[in-house]
Amino acid sequence: MSNKMWGGRFGEGPDRIMEEINASIGFDQRFFAQDIEGSKAHCRMLAETGIISRADADQIIAGLDAVLAEIEGGEFEFRRDLEDIHMNVESRLADLIGAAAGRLHTARSRNDQVATDFKLYIRDTIDHLDGQLRDLQEALLTRAEEHAATIMPGFTHLQTAQPVTFGHHCLAYVEMAGRDRGRLQDARKRLNECPLGAAALAGTSFPIDREQTAKALRFDAPTRNSLDSVSDRDFVLETLAAASIAATHLTRLAEEIVIWSTPGFDFVRLPDSFTTGSSIMPQKRNPDAAELVRAKAGRVIGALTSLLIVMKGLPLAYSKDMQEDKEAAFDALDALSLSLAAMTGMVRTLTVNEKAMRAAASRGFSTATDLADWLVRALNLPFRQAHHVTGALVARAEKKGIDLDGLSLDEMREVEPGITDEVYSVLGVDNSVASRTSFGGTSPENVRAAAKWWRDELGRESSR
Ligand code: ARG
Repeated sequence: MSNKMWGGRFGEGPDRIMEEINASIGFDQRFFAQDIEGSKAHCRMLAETGIISRADADQIIAGLDAVLAEIEGGEFEFRRDLEDIHMNVESRLADLIGAAAGRLHTARSRNDQVATDFKLYIRDTIDHLDGQLRDLQEALLTRAEEHAATIMPGFTHLQTAQPVTFGHHCLAYVEMAGRDRGRLQDARKRLNECPLGAAALAGTSFPIDREQTAKALRFDAPTRNSLDSVSDRDFVLETLAAASIAATHLTRLAEEIVIWSTPGFDFVRLPDSFTTGSSIMPQKRNPDAAELVRAKAGRVIGALTSLLIVMKGLPLAYSKDMQEDKEAAFDALDALSLSLAAMTGMVRTLTVNEKAMRAAASRGFSTATDLADWLVRALNLPFRQAHHVTGALVARAEKKGIDLDGLSLDEMREVEPGITDEVYSVLGVDNSVASRTSFGGTSPENVRAAAKWWRDELGRESSR
């Protein structure tokens, strides 16, 4: 059978392989709702501008609603020979309402149609991801408030550096998620121009009203250049770039959860609901969800790379290459969404082992910097010399297998005669974190203030 939509020019139907490589219905059926919404807006505009009759428009709208109901009810039969969602919907519309269906495609093309559908889909997805990132922020914020004064080792090079608070660590990820949301919002702002009406590539001779369709579809304005409208996929690239960064942030926390939950660290324990067992080793509690969050970033970054390569070197305007923009993007954005849900679940439910965290923070001479700072403050030593003295004290303690506060005053004075017993007041991990009150520092007081700032910020956001 030759094609219903362009059968006029064609004598025979496509080869089976041609159909297989050409069809996108297997994946673009996902934006059926956006496709129908776009068609309804287009149809109303055609009637309003007198391009089609009111009676035809009414029939088309009712027919599109019927198609929508069939798809939502799972009764719709998607046909590969009809290639994509646009032609599947239009063909079914023709079955339902007859001749009037043929007027819907006046003054448009699948090229502006697919660009519009995909923008609507990406916009909805951004809004969904934004809500999920906010949920993650709230989960982290709750843990931060709860653990504003819980001491853990802070690391650089994954070597014990200085004690920090677990709340402060959680808030670091709240900041990252905040920037991730900002990047997605930026992408949303730029994508929010409506390509509908660009038609195949050159615009149309019909007196269409692009302002009207743009407004009906909640875009800020119509796009200004028809060639650009049908060949732009930066809105997908930008969203995938923002998604890649967000997914990468998640991998860092996922990795930390993996490390923290090994018996060697034992900082956190994931609940049974977020771990798996081993079929052979009964003692195992594997952090599979965290590992999968760590791995799924690969899909997101892969989708960004893949679409960059699809778009690279493509001449204007539309080329069929651009049909390859969807599958990987869907997969990537699904993967990010699932990763966010899993991460939020883990953050909410993990148990914090305060004792193990504190013990680890006390090991590894984590207060050596506090000692050096004290030597500067109390004895007016230049910092470089204080660093040297502290190094000598650490070496002594290490040799004896004790911590800095285990050294006697006499032992310390052998290295630096000016030291007084006031020095012990800065050596404990509690003293150390309490003293980190510079703006953005880790002190419990700061963590409480920063958590409050975020609570207020999220509150302001809801009322905007
Ligand atoms: N299925 C196509 C896509 O996803 C729709 C646009 C087809 N346009 C065309 N000129 N063949 O890109």
